[in-house]
Amino acid sequence: MEPSERGERPAGAIDDTFDNQANTLEHIHFDIFTLFPAMFVGPLGESIVKRALDNGLISICLHNIRDFTTDRHHICDDTPYGGGGGMVMKPEPIFRAVETVLNRQPGWQLAPEDAYVNLPEWNAGEPVSLPTGVPIILLTPQGRRLNQQVVTELSRYPRMALICGRYEGIDERVRSQLVTDEISIGDYVISGGELAAMVLLDSVTRLLPGALGDDLGAHRDSYSLGLDGLLEGPQYTRPPSFRGEQVPQVLISGHHGMIARWRREQALLRTLLRRPDLLARTTLTAADEAFLRRHGWPPTDEVGRQK
Ligand code: ADE
Repeated sequence: MEPSERGERPAGAIDDTFDNQANTLEHIHFDIFTLFPAMFVGPLGESIVKRALDNGLISICLHNIRDFTTDRHHICDDTPYGGGGGMVMKPEPIFRAVETVLNRQPGWQLAPEDAYVNLPEWNAGEPVSLPTGVPIILLTPQGRRLNQQVVTELSRYPRMALICGRYEGIDERVRSQLVTDEISIGDYVISGGELAAMVLLDSVTRLLPGALGDDLGAHRDSYSLGLDGLLEGPQYTRPPSFRGEQVPQVLISGHHGMIARWRREQALLRTLLRRPDLLARTTLTAADEAFLRRHGWPPTDEVGRQK
């Protein structure tokens, strides 16, 4: 079944603007499917994600894909058809895990004593319909790139499933029949989807009201709505002088209007220097444009044509 038939947004079809609406969800449930649930223990037990868990803003169920195998050796991978090196993750344990979990209430987990031996009824040959509106996301370097717009889009789902790929690959039928979205955290390869799932989880959690303690925090982050997609400028705290470098006078002036303008200009400048591509997607005021022009924007070629 195509993703769109299940009411999901097909991979790649995102609105590429910075028009991120404030998040209104109060709770998100994550079902994470992995062969290495222990990898999540440290990151989930610290800082913002831990507080969001403690305060009931998010809930997470870690599902060990291996628990959903019934063979004697609990095999989850096999050699690729057609030869070649490496191993490929088998489809059945993944389908069984995802179809079993997503057709139950958020929070359901296989009891440890039931792993392998007392699994709910499931038939490999019979497709199971899954709830609409629950994205089933495969973390893979082949997915659409995670950025703040994608994070914002995902933060509007009350429940989502994350499948962490491992080994050299995953049977293509997981992609074609089960997964509704594929996400990459960047153009590099890491050893599996677990770290990528943690990045996604952390970035989505930050957007939930109350997750940061300071509700404005996430909106001021680089790439977010509060900065119109600009990078955040420099920040300072005490002491006012450190190794000969002073905190800019304007920040100590107490003049809120001037501080706001300075921060905006610093964000513009930093974006111009580091990520000029972002400026094309930013709503600039006349004052912003005048400021940027004084700093060499837009870039021109040797005969003065805009590049
Ligand atoms: N698995 C391996 N590399 C990955 C990446 N860059 N993003 C998401 N999942 C991955």
